Amino acid sequence: MSEPVGVERVAVGRAEDIPEGWQGTVTVAGVGVLVVNHEGTYYALRNNCTHKDYPLLGGDVSMGRITCEKHGAKFELATGKAKTLPAVKPVKIYATETEDGVVYVRPL
Ligand code: FES
Repeated sequence: MSEPVGVERVAVGRAEDIPEGWQGTVTVAGVGVLVVNHEGTYYALRNNCTHKDYPLLGGDVSMGRITCEKHGAKFELATGKAKTLPAVKPVKIYATETEDGVVYVRPL
């Protein structure tokens, strides 16, 4: 049985290959999505800062937030909310799930 349109998920990799502190990207429906393992939880959000579109990949992660390296905006990993200027708009988030030891990202 095929899954309903719009909920196709993308495999990130095996959980044991995605340790704490890991960051990487996958493409979900043509969009680059950043995946982060922060303190044992997987988060997925669009890999574009909402300030000037700079990639979030590689930004410093602490206190549940990722910092855009370009001008320092911080986004909450769990919600995508912009927590510090100069960004004001939230970044789109995605669902993560683990099945049979494989981590997946799925559009919400
Ligand atoms: S591009 Fe991210 S804070 Fe400006």
